[in-house]
Amino acid sequence: MSCFSRCHIGFVARKIYIVNGVLLLLALRGLLDLSSLPTQAGGVPVLVLKEGASRSRGREAQHSNITAAKVVAESIKSAFGPKGMDKLLVDNFGDITVTSDGRTILDEMDIQHPAAKMLVEVAKTQDNEAGDGTTSAVIVAGELLGRAEALIDKNLHPTVIIDGYRQASEKALEVLEKIALPFDFLKSAEFLKKTAVTSMASKLVAEYKEYLSDIVVKALLEVMEKQSDGSYRVDVDDVKVEKKTGESLGDTKLVNGIVVDKEIVHSGMPKRVENAKIALIDASLENDKPEFDSKINIEDPVNIAAFLKQEEDMLCDMVEKISATGANVVICQKGIDDMVQHFLAKKGISAIRRAKKSDMEKLARAIGGKIISNLSDLSSKDLGSVALVEERKIGDDKMTFIEGCKNPKAITILIRGGTERLNNEAERSMHDALCVIRDLIQEPKVIAGGSAIEMELAISLKKHAQTVSGREQLAIMAFAEALESIAITLSENAGLDPIDILSELRSRHEKGETWTGIDVNSGIVQDMTKVGVYEPIVVKRQIIKSAYEAAALILKIDDVIASSKNKMPPAPPGGMGGMGGYPGAGEY
Ligand SMILES: Nc1ncnc2c1ncn2[C@@H]1O[C@H](COP(=O)(O)OP(=O)(O)OP(=O)(O)O)[C@@H](O)[C@H]1O
Ligand SMILES: [Mg+2]
Repeated sequence: MSCFSRCHIGFVARKIYIVNGVLLLLALRGLLDLSSLPTQAGGVPVLVLKEGASRSRGREAQHSNITAAKVVAESIKSAFGPKGMDKLLVDNFGDITVTSDGRTILDEMDIQHPAAKMLVEVAKTQDNEAGDGTTSAVIVAGELLGRAEALIDKNLHPTVIIDGYRQASEKALEVLEKIALPFDFLKSAEFLKKTAVTSMASKLVAEYKEYLSDIVVKALLEVMEKQSDGSYRVDVDDVKVEKKTGESLGDTKLVNGIVVDKEIVHSGMPKRVENAKIALIDASLENDKPEFDSKINIEDPVNIAAFLKQEEDMLCDMVEKISATGANVVICQKGIDDMVQHFLAKKGISAIRRAKKSDMEKLARAIGGKIISNLSDLSSKDLGSVALVEERKIGDDKMTFIEGCKNPKAITILIRGGTERLNNEAERSMHDALCVIRDLIQEPKVIAGGSAIEMELAISLKKHAQTVSGREQLAIMAFAEALESIAITLSENAGLDPIDILSELRSRHEKGETWTGIDVNSGIVQDMTKVGVYEPIVVKRQIIKSAYEAAALILKIDDVIASSKNKMPPAPPGGMGGMGGYPGAGEY
């Protein structure tokens, strides 16, 4: 990468900064003709960028960007598909993550190269929009860029390649819509389950994929809501996912209600409350402490007792206030003073403290209660009611189960893996599965996986390319080959011969076998609808869109101007340590 050049102008030397492509001329004395800037008029050099900044342009910039993006795609390839491997990632604090989830791997990798970061964005978009298919999207984007580089070497201009890729992506989306298989999930949940199984087949939890898929499908069918136009909508956040180490994934349960990972605060409080009236309080049930250091001098011992009595009375008032509303359970987002706990217990009221904000919101919806942030506002109509609140021992810990909610859409999946890391990966896999089921409920159309769909799209694109005159044809062919890389990667990761598999897949798709793919479990090229490997159309549509957009964005760049690293002042002794400068792109 070359350092930004110094240009010379005849009369005065001053620094000029480029900000968002605009030249800012700083403290220039006299009039200066901008057009004269790049010319070497001799004389004193003018610094155009801040010291330490760097710039690369043209072919060099393209090569650097494409290589970085390809490296990112390459790095997650081995985690793709049911036979993919997992990655062990260690963060700055030494925390360990074991995963094969594309988005998580890229998030944890802490990537710095600006173009490579764009591929991380692809994974994020894919995850937010479709919930699954993040690895596929990054692999296809990387392949598109790799093939574009070969075309650039053959003197194809990047804009021609982008145009060809755009045409190819539009055509692929058109074919995808045409061949997708619609179904009615109200008649049979078979496709929903098979799709959830496919999504979990490539994860650490694959051993329990059938059992966990049943749970996920059941949970989402409970929380889906019919719209006025007859369609259904689902919010995956309506399904609460809790995890507790112990037992095994096969003991994961679906709870009709909300499970809060907190125990009842006082041993004297009832651990089981039927027909519970719950007060949701977002205020501390303690005496306010002043924000500044303060001191009270009490000279008469009689006054000490009066002072303590007054403090106790204030806490007692809080309990009276709660009790007067008829509440028999308190769920508090903040702390509860020991004295308040004691008084609550005496009145037979159970309480949970420091509940998560997200739990409070879910509870408010589930039990039909209102979160009160000022205790004096609490009244009986703010209480929510449920059939049962019970503290249960799960593993070594206690959790509180709130069951029989007013709103039947209150559902919790309680994951029970043997280790914390397994639980974390199970939660991520569960999230992917929940998202694919949501995608299907909202748009009930599936396609067959195992690279069947990618091969079918590739064949259609190759046929389409024949009808396109001009250089875009080469780019359309390259797009088709990039899609074929899914079949190659699946086979390679399963230890199969990718060349044999690819040629068989090509010839069978040529013969019109739309859903032929590679079943990596048996190693046989066959009709994937018979194997039952299905995926939602939403996931594949998003893969094509995000891979194309990322490739186009990166190919369009021919100039990279990176400012220098900001130096932070050294950390004060004993302080938390400087955060270090933001890693300048000039350092990648
Ligand atoms: N039995 C199978 N045989 C062949 N391919 C399969 C089988 N089961 C699933 N697949 C394929 O595995 C791929 C999914 O793999 P994986 O879940 O690792 O990647 P992803 O969904 O793209 O990314 P991520 O799950 O990390 O967001 C899909 O293309 C799917 O069709
Ligand atoms: Mg997946």
